[in-house]
Amino acid sequence: MKAIRINEFGGPEVMKLEEVARPVPAADEILVKVYATSVNPADYVIRKGGNNFLRPYLKLPMPLGLDAAGIVEEVGNEVTTFKTGDKVYGIPNFLDGGYTEYLAAKANKFALMPHRSTFNEAGAIPSCALIAWNGIVITGKAQPGQRVLIHGAAGGVGSLAVQFAKAKGAYVIGTASANNADFLKSIGADEVIDYKNQKFEDLLHDIDVVFNASPVRDSEMRLKSVDVLKEGGIFVCTQLDSPFSEDFLKALAEKNATTTFIGSPFDRSEALGEIAKLIDDGKVKVIISKIYSLAEVAEAHRESETNHVRGKLVLEVRKEN
Ligand SMILES: NC(=O)c1ccc[n+]([C@@H]2O[C@H](COP(=O)([O-])OP(=O)(O)OC[C@H]3O[C@@H](n4cnc5c(N)ncnc54)[C@H](OP(=O)(O)O)[C@@H]3O)[C@@H](O)[C@H]2O)c1
Repeated sequence: MKAIRINEFGGPEVMKLEEVARPVPAADEILVKVYATSVNPADYVIRKGGNNFLRPYLKLPMPLGLDAAGIVEEVGNEVTTFKTGDKVYGIPNFLDGGYTEYLAAKANKFALMPHRSTFNEAGAIPSCALIAWNGIVITGKAQPGQRVLIHGAAGGVGSLAVQFAKAKGAYVIGTASANNADFLKSIGADEVIDYKNQKFEDLLHDIDVVFNASPVRDSEMRLKSVDVLKEGGIFVCTQLDSPFSEDFLKALAEKNATTTFIGSPFDRSEALGEIAKLIDDGKVKVIISKIYSLAEVAEAHRESETNHVRGKLVLEVRKEN
């Protein structure tokens, strides 16, 4: 089978489409015939050699990719949740790679994909959807009457966070460039702030939850976000590699506000199942800005590294029949 591998860290050109052995699923794993995966910022961070959080785990040669959607080809003998032929979406085992024709992964990291989604739509979102679900629903406890501010609302994580918060009845404010304002309103944002020309800290107050889904590490933005939080509010952050400053923590404490870094929720199958229901009910749309083939992965990474992708970039591994 073919898969993307890197044999050295570096630019997009280090990613090679190589012939590698097809994995064999362990007892608690499924073998997935992959139809689609997607590009996430973590992929190019890993490709370049990682950050403080990831570096200790990276060993060359290595695969890439955090997402997958496909068809279950084999099930390990302890797996009771799936059968051969099921259409599934989820995330590979840690650093195992989704840019591949087949992967073996723990069954509890997958769920049945939304019935109304194509493989490209289902493969676009697992890692972004899981972190947005953790940030907005599990940690942020989105609900009617709550005011949520989402930084980076037009991106892969942000565009799902907006829709999850809206689906749970919250009032949603997103930051984005001006050209994304109509798009964000079309997916449910109540207000959009153009972060290049407007100061959110002058416009907002009494925010219950700030969800930082921007790909840009910006300590000023974090501090200004404390100003708009209400007493007891929460700042939820996706940027595991970027520790909070003393100033930020002090400002939060003065407001009795809290903060937390988040990754994927512990029970991935359950969260992916809930997300699939929202998609099947028409409450959440998967936003794809472009579909590349696996062989075009370098071009897809270059686009992702602009930090201005709307929604997701998909890598189509196989054509759907
Ligand atoms: N820990 C985890 O498990 C995990 C999983 C997935 C993602 N993440 C993290 O979540 C973050 C977002 O990931 P992503 O996949 O959503 O990234 P992304 O899709 O690449 O984000 C692109 C979006 O960011 C917006 N943006 C760029 N600069 C901005 C700024 N200064 N302020 C506000 N928005 C800005 C852009 O909007 P405009 O074009 O309108 O400017 C664009 O739509 C990243 O830090 C990523 O590492 C973590």
